[in-house]
Amino acid sequence: MTTATSFAAPPGPRLPRALQLPRFVVRPGGVLARSQARYGDIFTLRIEPHADWVVVSEPDAVAAIFRMGPQDFRAGTDILRPVLGDHSLLTLDGEEHLRQRRLLLPPFHGDRMQRYREVVRDATLAALDRMPQDRPFALREHTQAITLDVILRAVFGVEGAGTSRLRRRLERLLHWLSGPAALLAQTALGPDSRLARAHRSTAVDPVDVELRRLITQRRAAPDLDERDDILSMLLLARDEDGGAMTDVELRDELLTLLVAGHETTATGLAWAMERLTRTPQTLDRLSAEARAGGSAYTDAVVKETLRLRPVVMAVMRTLEADTVLAGHALPARTKVVASIYLMHRRPELYPEPFAFRPERFLGGDGPSSAYAWIPFGGGIRRCIGAAFAQMEMEVVLQTLVAQARFAPVGPPEHAVRRSVTRAPQRGGEVVMSR
Ligand code: HEM
Repeated sequence: MTTATSFAAPPGPRLPRALQLPRFVVRPGGVLARSQARYGDIFTLRIEPHADWVVVSEPDAVAAIFRMGPQDFRAGTDILRPVLGDHSLLTLDGEEHLRQRRLLLPPFHGDRMQRYREVVRDATLAALDRMPQDRPFALREHTQAITLDVILRAVFGVEGAGTSRLRRRLERLLHWLSGPAALLAQTALGPDSRLARAHRSTAVDPVDVELRRLITQRRAAPDLDERDDILSMLLLARDEDGGAMTDVELRDELLTLLVAGHETTATGLAWAMERLTRTPQTLDRLSAEARAGGSAYTDAVVKETLRLRPVVMAVMRTLEADTVLAGHALPARTKVVASIYLMHRRPELYPEPFAFRPERFLGGDGPSSAYAWIPFGGGIRRCIGAAFAQMEMEVVLQTLVAQARFAPVGPPEHAVRRSVTRAPQRGGEVVMSR
C-alpha cells in the first residue's frame, strides 16, 4: 500500500445509508454476493453514518491489507472495551497491541497445542454422556460446554471441584454478552454512564472477583514453572525490557481468550456436524479415519468447514492515513474489509464452491494462494488461537464420530447472526445413537 493523492471510492450500491444498514443486518451474505456480482472485486458499502466500508475479496488485495503495519491502521474494538478492558488484545492498537501480542503468542504456538489433546478428549467424552439419545437436539449447547471446559482447563488452569462457581459466573457473563441488548445498551448509554455501569456490573463484577482470586493464587503457586496452563505461562512471560504482565493485563487477556475462543470454536463445531451429517460419505470417511487413528481427512474436514461456513464473515481495519488499495485511492478513516465469506466462495480458487468437499484440501490440493483460506484473518491481528481451535475441532470431531452415530434433522440450516459469529439457525440439530 502507498500514500494516495486524490480519492476515488470504488463503486457500490447507491442506496442511502439508512437503507443499506437494515439490508445488511438482515442478509449480509446476500448484500455481499450481489455487490460483488455487480461491482466486482472491490466495492464500497455505506453502512455506518460516518465511514465507508471498502470490501475486497481477491487474494492480492487481501494480502495488501494483511501486510499493513501497526502504524497503518486501527482494528481494536471499542464495543467490547467496557467488558474486556483497556489491555485486551481485542481493544488495543499500535505498539501496545504488539507488546501484548508478543507476550501472548508463545503459549499458543502450534507445537504446544498437542499437550491439550487429552483435555479436549475428556471434555468431549463428558459432553457425549450428557447428550440425549435417539431424539433431536441442538449440538451447539454441547459444543459450547466442551469449549468452555477446555478453556477453563487449558487457559485458566482450573478443573474438578472448586471450578463450579467460576464456571457459573463465566457462563452468566457469556450469556449476558451474547444477548442482543447488552453491548448496544453499553454503546447507546455511553459505557461510563451510571446506568451502563450498573447494567454490566451484575455480569462482570462477580467474574472479576473470581479472576482476581485466581491470578493471586496462581502467582503464589509453588509449581508455577512446571504448569502447562496458559495463565501460568503468561505469569512467567517477559517483554524485551524484562517486564511482566500486570494483574489487570492478565485479567483482561483471560477474559479476551474466553470471549474470542469459546463461541467461535463451538459454532465451528456445530457447522462441521451440520455439513457432515448432510453429506454421509464425508461422515463415513471421517468415522473410519477416527477409528483407524489417522488425522489427514479430519484436518481437511476442519478446513473445509471453516471455508464453506466461516464463523466470522470478515475482518476490518480502519486506515490511519490516505492509502491506495487495489488501484483505488482511499482517504484516512476508511474501513477496509477483507471478506472471508466472499474469498472462500471464489470458483477459481475453489471449484464448485458451494459443495462441502474436504477432499479439496487433501494431498496439497488446497488453493494456490496463501491468502485464499482466511477463516482466522491475517497479519498482525491474525487469530492467536488458530492452531488451538483447529486442534480442538479435530479432537472433538474424531471423538464424537468414533463414539456415536449422528443423523441430520430437517432441512439444511441457514446461517444466523449470534454475537460476532454466523451460526446454524437451529444450533446444528442432530439425532445421536450409541
Ligand atoms: C474456529 C474458531 C475461531 C475462529 C474462526 C476465529 C477467528 C478469528 C478472527 C477472524 C480473528 C480476527 C483476525 C484479524 O483481524 O485478522 C480472531 C482474532 C482473535 N482470536 Fe480467534 N478464532 C477462533 C478461535 C480462537 C481461540 C480458540 C482463541 C483463544 C483461545 C482465539 C483468540 C483470538 C484473539 C485473542 C484474537 C485477537 C488477535 C489480535 O487482535 O491480535 N480465537 N479470531
